[in-house]
Amino acid sequence: MTDLVRVTVDEREVHVPKGTGIVETALAAGIEIPVFCYEPRLGEGIGACRMCIVEIEGIPKLQTACTTTATDGMVVKTARTSKKASVGQNATLEFILVNHPLDCPVCDKGGECPLQDLTFRYGPGNTRMTFEKLTFEKPIPISPAISLDRERCILCYRCTRFSEDVSEDGQLVARNRGAMSVITTFEDEPYSGPFTGNVTELCPVGALLPTQYRFEARPWEIQNVPTVCGMCSVGCNVNATVREGKVKRILSRNHPEIDEGWICDKGRFAFSHTRAADRIVDPIKRVRMHGFEPVSWDDALDEAERLLRAAQGRVVVALSGSETVEQAYAMAKLVRVGTGSHEAMLPEEVTHSLDAYGLPLSAIRDAQVVVVLGDVSVAERAPIVDLWIKAARRNGARVLTELDDHAVRGADRAVLIWSGPGGRGGATVAAHAERLGLAGKEGCGAFYLPETPNGRGAADAWAAASDEEPAETESVGLLIVSGDEAANDPNVRALAEKAESVIAISMFHGLAAGWADLVLPGTSYLERDGTYVNLEGRLQRLRRSAMPPAPDELAWLSQLASRFGVELAPHAPMVFAELSERIYGGLAFGEVGERAPLRGYLGAPAHVEAPPLPEPEAATEGLQLVCYKPLFSGPAVERVDELQFQRPPAEVELARADAQARGIANGATVTVSHNGTSMQLRARIAKDLRKGIVRIAREHAGDLRGTVEVSA
Ligand code: SF4
Ligand code: SF4
Ligand code: FES
Repeated sequence: MTDLVRVTVDEREVHVPKGTGIVETALAAGIEIPVFCYEPRLGEGIGACRMCIVEIEGIPKLQTACTTTATDGMVVKTARTSKKASVGQNATLEFILVNHPLDCPVCDKGGECPLQDLTFRYGPGNTRMTFEKLTFEKPIPISPAISLDRERCILCYRCTRFSEDVSEDGQLVARNRGAMSVITTFEDEPYSGPFTGNVTELCPVGALLPTQYRFEARPWEIQNVPTVCGMCSVGCNVNATVREGKVKRILSRNHPEIDEGWICDKGRFAFSHTRAADRIVDPIKRVRMHGFEPVSWDDALDEAERLLRAAQGRVVVALSGSETVEQAYAMAKLVRVGTGSHEAMLPEEVTHSLDAYGLPLSAIRDAQVVVVLGDVSVAERAPIVDLWIKAARRNGARVLTELDDHAVRGADRAVLIWSGPGGRGGATVAAHAERLGLAGKEGCGAFYLPETPNGRGAADAWAAASDEEPAETESVGLLIVSGDEAANDPNVRALAEKAESVIAISMFHGLAAGWADLVLPGTSYLERDGTYVNLEGRLQRLRRSAMPPAPDELAWLSQLASRFGVELAPHAPMVFAELSERIYGGLAFGEVGERAPLRGYLGAPAHVEAPPLPEPEAATEGLQLVCYKPLFSGPAVERVDELQFQRPPAEVELARADAQARGIANGATVTVSHNGTSMQLRARIAKDLRKGIVRIAREHAGDLRGTVEVSA
C-alpha cells in the first residue's frame, strides 16, 4: 500500500501519497495554485517563474510549490490565506510584466492567455514602470509553421524543456543571460521534426504561435469541436478550432492513454489541405473527344449506376483505410448486397490475432523492455508512439530493435511493436507474443503500427456488410477507388489500367482526373461524422468540424444504393446503429464517447492463434532496402505550404557499421544501386537501424527494390 502523508492547505486537511508535490496536494484539497513554468508532462518543476509561491509553516521565506514535496504534518498557506504569499505573487506578476509588451488587443493569445488571466486574478491593477521596455525584432519565423515574438516571452522554459526532454530533438535553446535571455533554435536552423507544434500550445503567452493562426480569429468567435485526428493510426484526440464553418487550427485534447496531450505536426498543421486550390467540388465525367467536364449530381449518379450495372458482378473496391467505418460499410453494402460483387482491395493486411495482446499506448511508458521490430522509424509511421517509447527509455526501459527472448522473458512488463513493411507484420508480432507467453500478462502486450488511419475499421466494416465469401473475378468490370490514398497507390493504378471502367472518389483534381471515367468529390476526416478504429483497436468518434464543399459520401451512397434496392441510411449514427449490431455488440453511437475507453473488440474471440512465423530470411550479399512512406508525405501534406520544409530529403539511411565498412561519412553523396539501376543520394547514419538494412523514403527510392549496394 502507498504511504500517505497528512498535509494542511489553507486549513483543509488532505492525505496524499508520499512524494506528491505541493501543487498536486493543493489540488487534492480543491485549491488551485497558479503556475506558469510548471507542467508535469515536462518533468519535475524548475522554479523559473515564481508564480506558485506559498507560505509553509516553519520556513521563513516563501517557497515555490512546484519544486517542493509535501511532507507529513506540513502546513501550507496559499495566497488565499497568506498575506505574505499574496503580496509575493502580486510582486512576481509585476516583475514578469516589466518587459512584457501588454499588446493583448493584437495578440493571438489574448482571451485564452494564462498570463492575462493570472494578472487579472493575482496581479497589480496598474504599472509603476515608466521606462522604455525591451524590444526585439518580431515576429521571427523559427520555422515556416511557428512564429516567435520574443517581447512576449516570460522565460518559463517550457518550450526548451519540451524540445530537450520530451521530443528529445534538442533544437530549442535559450541564448544570453538575465533580461537579455532569448529563446532561439540551435544555430538558427528552422525548428523541424515531427513534434514542433506542441510548443505553441505549451507556451503560456503569445510568444510561440502557429503562423497559420496569426490574426485568424479571436476566442469569442470560435468553437472547439472535439474530434480525432485522421492522419495516422494513432488517432490522437484533438479539438478543431472552427470559425464560420472553417477549421482554423488543431489543438490537442489530452487522452491520457493515447496521446497525453501531444500531437504531431502533420495532425496539427495539415488541416489546411481542406482548402486546397485544386479541391474537387463537382462530379467530373470523362466525355469522349472532349476530355473531362463537370456534371450534375443527378447525371453523376446515373453514370455511376450505369457503370455498376455494366460490370455485372465484377466490381472491385480499392479502400484507402481512411474511410470512416460507416463509409466503408455503406460502400460495402452498395457493392456487395446491391451488385453481388464482394472483392475489396485492402490497403494492408489486417489481423485479429493481436487482439489478445491489446493495451493502451500509455502502457509503453511503463514497460521495462520495449522491442521495436520492422525497420521503419516509429516516428514516420505513428509519431506519438515514438514519444511513448522515449518516455519508457527515460524511465529506464531497455529499448531493443532486435528480439531478445531472454530480455523479454526476464521482464515483468514487456511490449512488442511492429513498425515495418505491411503484409504479415501484425501476425508476426502476435506469433512472437504468443511464443513468449505475453498473453494475459499484466503490462505486457503487442502493437502493430498500420500505414493507414482506419484500415482495421474499414476492413471490419467491409466484412460485416455481407456473409458471402469474396470470389476471385477474372476480369475487373469496374474499379471503385475509394479516396486519395488509394488513388495514390501504384498497385491501385496498375489495376485501374486493366479495369474496364473506373470510378474514383477523390478530393483533389491532380489525383484521379485523367484516368478515372467518373470522379466524385471526396471529403476529409475533418468534414465527416462517424467512427475510426485506431492502432490499439479503440473505436473513436469523428465529429464534423467543417462543412464539406460537396455532399457527404453517405448521402449519395444512400441514393445510389436505393437504385439497387438496398436500404442504406444517409447519416452516420443510423449506419452505425446497423453495423454496431454486427461488430460492436450493439454499442450506441452516443456511447462511443468523447474520450473513448479501450473496449476491446466486442464479439471478437479472446484469443486467436497466431499463424506460424515466417522462415528467417537467408543471409544475402548487399544491403536490404526498406522503402517507407514518410510522415510528411501524401496528398494532404503536399498541399500545405507550412509543411514543405519537413518533407524528407533525398537520402539513404545506413547503420553505422555498414557506413564504416564502406568508408561512408555522414552527409556524403553515395551511389545506391540494384540490378543495373542506380541513383545518387545523401548518406545519413541512423542510430536506430540494424546492420544490413538501409532505408529510403518511397518518393526517393525510384525503381530500387530488394537488395541494394551502397558505395561512396
Ligand atoms: S517562448 Fe513561451 S514557452 Fe518558451 S520560454 Fe518563452 S514564454 Fe516560455
Ligand atoms: S500522431 Fe497521428 S493521429 Fe496523432 S496528430 Fe499525428 S497524424 Fe494525427
Ligand atoms: S510554477 Fe513554480 S516557479 Fe513557475
